[in-house]
Amino acid sequence: MTAPCRIAPSLLSADFARLGEEVRDVIAAGADWIHFDVMDNHYVPNLTFGPMVCQALKPHAVTAAGAPVPIDVHLMVQPVDALAAAFAQAGADCISFHPDASAHAHRSVQAIKAAGCKAGLAFNPAMPLDVLDWLIDDIDLILIMSVNPGFGGQSFIDSALRKVQAARSRISASGRDIRLEVDGGIKVENIRRVADAGADTFVAGSAIFGQRDYAAVIRAMRATLAGR
Ligand code: DX5
Ligand code: ZN
Repeated sequence: MTAPCRIAPSLLSADFARLGEEVRDVIAAGADWIHFDVMDNHYVPNLTFGPMVCQALKPHAVTAAGAPVPIDVHLMVQPVDALAAAFAQAGADCISFHPDASAHAHRSVQAIKAAGCKAGLAFNPAMPLDVLDWLIDDIDLILIMSVNPGFGGQSFIDSALRKVQAARSRISASGRDIRLEVDGGIKVENIRRVADAGADTFVAGSAIFGQRDYAAVIRAMRATLAGR
């Protein structure tokens, strides 16, 4: 039985001039997590926002009832450790990094957990899952990239579906409660295929922030996931 599905809108496609408002609006529209894409213009050819922006947004990441909404930080940076520590300080709930961006991925996972955050590993489209042989018992989330990292609005790479299936098999074999998140090119039209492959958490940037009515998109995604 996989965990209940979660929708994690990516701020990369939000209005950067109104990020606090965008966070509140997309939570009011039904978002489960806030996906926070950190890019350093080194590991990926783009530059976004740092720990201070995460800290500034933290008070806005709450539901109308005041319940905290997890900030799901996706580090597309190299090296990893110093920025991971800064984001833990800044209020990140989950910190995912690309294992190929860390000289010592096991140590990076240990440091994220020691800082009190959940730890995730992100896998680029051509990256195999082998490192999970040695880390699956230490992580809380697997992030399968279905686009090449760096930009929103790209098309879904179908081979990611096979990797989602492989990751789901590894999670089942581990017996651990690990979230399986897919990131890139997720739309109402393809989210069901991604769920059927075994994913339970869905990052969507342009599909949500590219529309006026965020709630309508999230509702349509949930209806598709529910098979309606
Ligand atoms: C890409 C980021 C993704 C991206 C998703 O490097 O990691 O989170 O913002 O954007 P869409 O949903 O538009 O592909
Ligand atoms: Zn991302």
